[in-house]
Amino acid sequence: MTDIRVGIVGCGLIGRQYAQRLGRLGAQVEAVADPMPERTQQVAALSGAATYADARELLAREYIDLLCVCSPTPYHYEAVLAAAQRGRHIFCEKPLAENLEQAREMCRAAHEAGVMLGIGFKMRYEAVFARAKSMIDAGDIGTPLYAIFSYFQQVPPPERIWYTDYGALRDNIVHAIDLSNWLLGRLPAQVSARLGNRLGFKGEDKVFLQVAYPDGALASIHGGWVGGDYPQVAASDDIFFQIVGAAGYVAGDRAGHFVSATKRAIERCALDPVDSFTEELAAFLGALRSGEPPPIPGAAGLLAQAVIEAAFESSRRAEPVAIDRRDYSF
Ligand SMILES: NC(=O)c1ccc[n+]([C@@H]2O[C@H](COP(=O)([O-])OP(=O)(O)OC[C@H]3O[C@@H](n4cnc5c(N)ncnc54)[C@H](O)[C@@H]3O)[C@@H](O)[C@H]2O)c1
Repeated sequence: MTDIRVGIVGCGLIGRQYAQRLGRLGAQVEAVADPMPERTQQVAALSGAATYADARELLAREYIDLLCVCSPTPYHYEAVLAAAQRGRHIFCEKPLAENLEQAREMCRAAHEAGVMLGIGFKMRYEAVFARAKSMIDAGDIGTPLYAIFSYFQQVPPPERIWYTDYGALRDNIVHAIDLSNWLLGRLPAQVSARLGNRLGFKGEDKVFLQVAYPDGALASIHGGWVGGDYPQVAASDDIFFQIVGAAGYVAGDRAGHFVSATKRAIERCALDPVDSFTEELAAFLGALRSGEPPPIPGAAGLLAQAVIEAAFESSRRAEPVAIDRRDYSF
C-alpha cells in the first residue's frame, strides 16, 4: 500500500538513501528536487518521480503529503518554511538549521500550520544507543549522571566541502549533542566550549564541549575532523561513548560493541547492526499514519541548536554560557 506521497529536496548522498528506502516502507516518492539535473534524474529513476530544480517549484506543482529535506544545511530553512506554508508534513535532516533563530521559526511555522516536523537524528535508532536508552529508562544504571562522547572523523571529501565550510559542530557533533540530551533525559542548562580550526577550513574542525544539565549531570563531548592522514574509519565505528549512572554504566562504540555494568552483572556483547535510516523513516511514517506526534520532533533539533549557539558564544567569550529555557521554546 502506498498511502503517503513524498517529495525529496536534495538528491545527494542522503536524498538517495531516503529514496531507496521510502518505497519499501509503503510510501511513494512522487517528486524530487535538486539544482543538479543529473542528480534529480538518478534519484527520480528509482521511483519514476517528477523532477524539479528547487523545493518551491516542487511544492507548487505537486500534491505531496510529506517533504523530506535532504539539501545542504543552509537550505533547510527555506524548504521547511515553504512546506509548512503549503500545509505539508516535513522530515528534515540534521542539523535543523543554520542558527537558533531559524530553527525556532521553523518549529513555529510547522506548529502554526498544524503539520508534523520530524528531524533525522538517526543515531537514536542505532543498536548501541537504543540499548543504552532502554537500560537507562528501565533504571538499570540508576540516575544518569555523566555522559562522554568522542567523535573524530577524517576530514570530509572535496565533493562535500560544504560540510567543512559549515563546521564540525553543526555537521557531526550535533548527533552527539542530541544523544546526550536524549540519554541523560534532561534539558541542557549551560555550555562551556573550546572550538578550534587546525585545518584551515572556514568552519571549526576541533570541538571540545561540556554541557551541564540540572541536578549536576554533565556531558563531555569531543570531536571533529582530523585530516587526510587519519584513517577513513567506517561511519559505523566512529563514536565511543559512556553513560555513567548512580548505579552503573553503559558504554560502547557505534560498531555495536556494548558494555553494561550494573549491580547484577558486567556484560559485554556485540549487537547486530540496524539500518537506522530505515528505522527513522519507518517510525516517522508510522506516526504520520497513526496521527501520533513525531518520534523525534523538530523541538529536539531546536534544543541541539540552542547548545550549538551557546557553544559558539562560549568559545568566543572563553567562559560558560547559560541556556535559557526561552532559548529553545517557540
Ligand atoms: N543523518 C545523518 O547521519 C547524515 C549524514 C550525512 C549528511 N546528513 C545531512 O543531510 C543533508 C544533506 O547532506 P548530503 O551528505 O546528502 O549532502 P550532498 O552534498 O551529498 O547532497 C546535497 C544535495 O543537495 C543539492 N542542493 C544544493 N542546494 C540545494 C537547494 N537549494 N535545494 C535542493 N537541493 C540542493 C546538491 O546539489 C546536492 O545534490 C545535510 O543537512 C547533512 O547535514 C545527515
